[in-house]
Amino acid sequence: MASNTEGDINISRYRTNWCNDHLSDISKTLLSKDESVFIHQSLSTPCLNVLEDCDGIFLKDVEGRTYMDFHGNNVHQIGYKNKYVIDKIKEQLDELPFSPRRYTNRKSIECAQKLIDISPPNLNRVLFAPSGAVAISTALKLARIATNKHKIIVNWDSFHGATMDTISVGGESLFRKDLGPLMSGVFHVPPATSYRGIFTKENDDDLAYANYIEYVVEKEQDIGAILIETVRNTDVQIPSKAYWKKLRKICDKHDILLILDEIPICLGRTGHFFACEHFDIQPDILVIGKGLGGGVFPMAAMLTNEKLNIAQTTSLGHYTHEKSPIGAAAALATIEYIEGENLLYQVNEMSLYMHQQLHDLKNEFDLIGDVRGIGLLWAIELVEDRNTKSKASTQAERVMYKCLEMGLSFKVSQSNVLTLSPPLIINKAQLLTAVQIIRNAIKSI
Ligand SMILES: Cc1ncc(COP(=O)(O)O)c(C=O)c1O
Repeated sequence: MASNTEGDINISRYRTNWCNDHLSDISKTLLSKDESVFIHQSLSTPCLNVLEDCDGIFLKDVEGRTYMDFHGNNVHQIGYKNKYVIDKIKEQLDELPFSPRRYTNRKSIECAQKLIDISPPNLNRVLFAPSGAVAISTALKLARIATNKHKIIVNWDSFHGATMDTISVGGESLFRKDLGPLMSGVFHVPPATSYRGIFTKENDDDLAYANYIEYVVEKEQDIGAILIETVRNTDVQIPSKAYWKKLRKICDKHDILLILDEIPICLGRTGHFFACEHFDIQPDILVIGKGLGGGVFPMAAMLTNEKLNIAQTTSLGHYTHEKSPIGAAAALATIEYIEGENLLYQVNEMSLYMHQQLHDLKNEFDLIGDVRGIGLLWAIELVEDRNTKSKASTQAERVMYKCLEMGLSFKVSQSNVLTLSPPLIINKAQLLTAVQIIRNAIKSI
């Protein structure tokens, strides 16, 4: 039995109903062909629908319906088919499409330098990787080499990728069930703010979560690294600055590396290029990805500092596409576009608007237990009862399919959280339309 702690379940009754009600024979034929050639897996195949196009903030299916995409697997900060980025990629395709290992290339050097220029001041070394999970893998390796310790503290409910090592450090059982022994030395702790009440008082300040981490560090004594998402993307958990300051202090005191996973939220999602800038902390290793590839190319990176440039004799990331000129062109153009269009400013403006719109929505419906967000990453948490906060999971799924019917796509996290991450190029009118669709969907169920 699949569990829907992460994303929407692809074998649920509501999905089947939606497909029956909305898809024509053309789509159904393509979907069944897809089902016959691809391995079936949780959260993926069988698929919901077949796409024909994606442009700006929209997806278009083969039947011509359009959907505002508030999910986009977090690759679409600058919108789909961004002309500036696509043109730069095309230029690069004509010039140098691939760079075999042993060689470097101008675009990769330029891109690495740009990342160093925009990242926190202590970060000045880069390693590219072809996906977020493998970039996390390189960070795990580097942390072991640097500290000579293999133990690591991570959060329950976190997701850091779907490879064997990243499911070991991830905090969701869905991704590791039935898979046997994993990496050893992994200590899961509760994420800040997620489960208020797990400690003795209902309204513990989130410093209690940092204190608990220090307790584990002191008990265990040889923890080498702490790996946490700066802001949890899925159900949008935003720790306090005090929490992050405390964690930084714990790491410094105990010779532990702080690894921040900002794969889905880097490059402007939170209103800064990197979320750690909100909390005034500098990680030892920052891992980014997803939108780094401009919504086109699989591209991730590990950023770290000079002190950790110590793995000369170990291959940290011996990847075929390590210094891809295409990936670098895509990433560089994405950053240039964000800067050129002043998108960070726009995100902060739109964030205020979303704050107001979603709090109004919360006042209208008891079903909404909480809204929270940062930049253009927002969560609407649906509850059966505001006091007990029991999850309104079925309602969340029904709202999602209703919204799809009305042209809005988003992800459901932790089974009851509507996660909204629109492209950063979105305007006010489009945001208002999206909120109105959610309002109508909630009314209709
Ligand atoms: C927080 C976080 N870390 C890591 C990953 C893994 O990235 P990728 O799918 O590119 O391997 C994801 C992907 O969803 C993510 O959300």
